[in-house]
Amino acid sequence: MSSTNVLPLLVLVLVLLLCSLKSHQIFATAEPDDLIQKTCKTTLYNDLCVASLRSNSSSAKADTKGLAVIMIGIGAANANETYTYLSSQLLLLLKGKKDSTSTSTRGLTRNKVLRLCAERYMFASQALQEAVQDVEQMSQDYAYVQVSAAKDYPNVCHNAFKRVPSLAYPPELAKREENLVQICDVATGIMDLIDWDQN
Ligand SMILES: *[C@@H]1O[C@H](CO)[C@@H](O)[C@H](O)[C@H]1NC(C)=O
Ligand SMILES: *[C@@H]1O[C@H](CO)[C@@H](O)[C@H](O)[C@H]1NC(C)=O
Repeated sequence: MSSTNVLPLLVLVLVLLLCSLKSHQIFATAEPDDLIQKTCKTTLYNDLCVASLRSNSSSAKADTKGLAVIMIGIGAANANETYTYLSSQLLLLLKGKKDSTSTSTRGLTRNKVLRLCAERYMFASQALQEAVQDVEQMSQDYAYVQVSAAKDYPNVCHNAFKRVPSLAYPPELAKREENLVQICDVATGIMDLIDWDQN
């Protein structure tokens, strides 16, 4: 290998080294990220907590109460997204074959269960939107009640599936249920750190 081939490689390695050093410094000195890490460490799902909060740029400047609001907002968006997903499944079902499945007893039952589930995820999203306001207004009791309700709605959907043995619980929905439940647990964990008596 001639030196002209090695040089660009050396430069690249140097640049990468400098970049990693620099980003290291930024993380080491950033106070807000410290608060995210410190806060998330006390919750049940540290990784989910850190990743979720970092996905919203407002987190960098937020205090504990602000982080709770952001996390609950993420839960509201998440639940709303599942509501949209279930509504589209329902629509597919209605638009689908007019023959067998959609008019059969089984098709109608699946329809009914999906509709119930869509509604529950909408309720969950609404409860979390209420919770955002409750935290902002420092209404501790209401905030906990709403987050707890939001955490329970996916289970109502799951139970509706369980009542119809011939209807399998879709893995996609199981994943979404687990995700929302964990987000609610993390939100509760952050709420536990708020100084509710501060005003
Ligand atoms: C970030 O969080 C704030 C406060 O909850 C919210 O108003 C905003 O919409 C969020 N941003 C994104 C990109 O979701
Ligand atoms: C829910 O999601 C839909 C479609 O993604 C969006 O249009 C709507 O604004 C969302 N609603 C809330 C309350 O976030």
